[in-house]
Amino acid sequence: MSSPDVALTAPMSSTPVVDMRAIWKTYGMGRKDSAVRVDALRGVSLTVEQGEYTAIIGPSGSGKSTLMHIIGCLDTPTSGTYLIDGEDASDLTEQDLADIRNIRIGFVFQQFNLLSSLNAWRNVELPLAYAGVPASKRRARAMEALEVVGLTDRASHKPGELSGGQQQRVAVARALVNNPSLILADEPTGNLDSVSTADMLTLFGTLNAEGRTIILITHDPDVAASARRVVQVRDGCITADHVVGAAGGRSYVTLGSDGSTDAQVRPDGAMSEVAR
Ligand SMILES: Nc1ncnc2c1ncn2[C@@H]1O[C@H](COP(=O)(O)OP(=O)(O)OP(=O)(O)O)[C@@H](O)[C@H]1O
Ligand SMILES: [Mg+2]
Repeated sequence: MSSPDVALTAPMSSTPVVDMRAIWKTYGMGRKDSAVRVDALRGVSLTVEQGEYTAIIGPSGSGKSTLMHIIGCLDTPTSGTYLIDGEDASDLTEQDLADIRNIRIGFVFQQFNLLSSLNAWRNVELPLAYAGVPASKRRARAMEALEVVGLTDRASHKPGELSGGQQQRVAVARALVNNPSLILADEPTGNLDSVSTADMLTLFGTLNAEGRTIILITHDPDVAASARRVVQVRDGCITADHVVGAAGGRSYVTLGSDGSTDAQVRPDGAMSEVAR
């Protein structure tokens, strides 16, 4: 486990950050009535390399948040293998998983999840306190993260004194403060107006350009279009995997349930059917 007391630069590695193989997630496994069981993920395999900017898109109930919870080690799969940074998550202890969640991953949620009684920098320093960083260093680190999101001048404001877009930027600063290599964002623009959404997407683009891996979950195609790769989820399966602007070759792949390709996006961005 790397030291939490490091500078705000992303570490480099050639091992995939996320390597999921045939992941199933069935809710309600412990219930006697099989009718309440839900197969939220049905054999998902997904690899995300260091430095990618991936959007996961799909309709409500398709399994996006379930996928994010497993990627973020907030939940465990019912079956299948998940390697995070090359380590099998099922071999890790609860403490290892807690450390990964706190230090290697920065989470951003639709409901900003800020503590209303604490001002911006106090909210941002919380993960540092959990990681055991001494109080003497926390404020400077929190201010550094607030500077990254352009909120130095709002550091002493409480969430209720900030706009929605500013609150979400505080949440991003909090996600960044432990220098995570992976940022997981679940509908981060779901509660933002169009201007704040554009600001947030610009910020994610900048963080990615600095080398951070970003996985952004959304049901909004316009938001997904800001990413460099778009993974489409439907009914618990990955149905498309689209690298935006890729030169030749792998521009768009749509997978059938048997893994066969049945559609492509042409270089102009339009989709075209291909024979199975
Ligand atoms: N804790 C749970 N217990 C039982 N079923 C659940 C649970 N969480 C999610 N589900 C079910 O699993 C499926 C996938 O849910 P999930 O939250 O992953 O969807 P989503 O794509 O994130 O949807 P949304 O866009 O509405 O957030 C849904 O059918 C949902 O009802
Ligand atoms: Mg969801």
